[in-house]
Amino acid sequence: MVRVLCFVLLCFHYAVRTLSFQVDVDYDGLIKIKLQHALDHVPNPDFHDRGTVFVYSIRSGSVSLEQPPLSVSDREKLLKLSEKGGIYRLHSSVQSADGKETSFLTFVKACSLVESHLSDILSVSLDHTGSVIGVSMMTSPGVCEGQLVTKDDIRVFNTTVFVKHMEQGPVPDTAAYIQKLEREKEARERGETKDNRSFLAKYWMYIVPLVIFLVLSGAANPEGAAGGGGGGGGR
Ligand SMILES: *[C@@H]1O[C@H](CO)[C@@H](O)[C@H](O)[C@H]1NC(C)=O
Repeated sequence: MVRVLCFVLLCFHYAVRTLSFQVDVDYDGLIKIKLQHALDHVPNPDFHDRGTVFVYSIRSGSVSLEQPPLSVSDREKLLKLSEKGGIYRLHSSVQSADGKETSFLTFVKACSLVESHLSDILSVSLDHTGSVIGVSMMTSPGVCEGQLVTKDDIRVFNTTVFVKHMEQGPVPDTAAYIQKLEREKEARERGETKDNRSFLAKYWMYIVPLVIFLVLSGAANPEGAAGGGGGGGGR
């Protein structure tokens, strides 16, 4: 009985810890990625505004895009770039919550972008803290077959955005883990001096299963006793 109770409490203890750990990493927040592109067929082209990607939820990967149609002169430049076998360059800049700006450069063959009628795929990679560590562009289907494309075909971008989280490998990031433990320890030490919540508020997660357990075992016992008595009487 006591062993079962200990087991239940232990299970609950780990469930609570797992739960609070998940809350720790349940970050969310807006990421704004400014997109600029270069359409001139020169070695060091100028970049100008293409649009903005808003990542609303890092967890669910919900995004929205703001990309005005290309001007006629931009479409002509892009067609020319494609004919000459040039490279379409995309510059993305991300401003983090603390105001730091990071930028990334990615490129595709202009002909594949043109022949897909401006259907492109942007992958936004995030590290374990939720910061953007890469923005890369691909085209779909990404062919360069000399297909005839007119200016009307490349008026608006048809962009798909994927938000990718870095996979945690089987080997833990020891330095980050030790820092986390230290932060937890500090928090606990600070908490111990300050924590003046009531006993119930602090330990409810242990009390509730205990009460449930007692109620259940209390409800189970009379039946068990009755069953045992019935068995004895039959003999
Ligand atoms: C937009 O892109 C998707 C995939 O990237 C593609 O399946 C779809 O046909 C494209 N739509 C248009 C209008 O080009």
